[in-house]
Amino acid sequence: MSRLDGKVALVTGAGSGIGRATALRFGADGAAVMCADLNERGAQDTAARVAEGGGRSAAMRLDVTREEEVQGALRRTVDELGGLHAIMNNAGVGGGFGWDTTIAVNLSGVYYGLVHGAQLLAERGGGAILNTASVAGLVGLVGAQAAADPTAPPAPGAGSYVAAKHGVVGLTRQFALHYARRGVRVNAICPGYIETPMTANLTASEDAARFIASLHPMGRLGQPEEIAAAASFLISDDASFITGIALAVDGGYTAR
Ligand SMILES: NC(=O)c1ccc[n+]([C@@H]2O[C@H](COP(=O)([O-])OP(=O)(O)OC[C@H]3O[C@@H](n4cnc5c(N)ncnc54)[C@H](O)[C@@H]3O)[C@@H](O)[C@H]2O)c1
Repeated sequence: MSRLDGKVALVTGAGSGIGRATALRFGADGAAVMCADLNERGAQDTAARVAEGGGRSAAMRLDVTREEEVQGALRRTVDELGGLHAIMNNAGVGGGFGWDTTIAVNLSGVYYGLVHGAQLLAERGGGAILNTASVAGLVGLVGAQAAADPTAPPAPGAGSYVAAKHGVVGLTRQFALHYARRGVRVNAICPGYIETPMTANLTASEDAARFIASLHPMGRLGQPEEIAAAASFLISDDASFITGIALAVDGGYTAR
């Protein structure tokens, strides 16, 4: 018997990086997975890989900034996969997208998943929600430029990213409290820097890669599978008494 046998999960941002690795892990652990992403082809590719691994899956295009689409994704998961027990609000953009887009995707997108997802899970007898926050939801970010030159202007996008991710941690606690007696657990996962397409440009040069690695006491970036492993635990019944936490999976980044 696998850890997630019999469960159905919706993963947003499942077409790439952490979302893809997590969808694959959920599938390998026995869950049926709806892979949703703005990039429909990416979502389809992930769903195909879940199926290749023996898991049940489906794919759909989803823009998490559109509230009605998020509602539609929740309904479609129930219709196509026969239930809903877990939601990972993971879709996100990195720095450089400007305030409005960053807040719309990284904060409002998670909010819609929480408002409609928590209520639906409660009505259906309970479940688990996992929001992908970041170490940037717990502490501020130090850019390479600012570290080298205190007079350098703020890195573009750092403020909006940190604000959105701190917001995700706050929403996680708020919804965890509200739904604690209705069988819905709500947690956040806070990755350090992870090797995904999102961070590819941050680690393009050797110097930049060394700087980013040095922010983590373990001396390296993380792999998406290392987030997926923690995510699978947090949505599983093994985590039945865990709600409202923001779990750092960060190679020690926030330990100092
Ligand atoms: N990579 C890291 O170092 C890191 C660290 C901490 C937190 N995170 C967070 O992890 C999550 C996943 O990031 P990743 O590194 O896997 O990045 P990624 O770019 O590999 O994947 C992000 C996915 O989200 C999708 N997406 C973007 N906007 C969307 C929208 N409006 N609706 C639906 N899907 C949308 C993209 O198409 C993409 O497939 C994000 O929330 C990110 O902020 C990443």
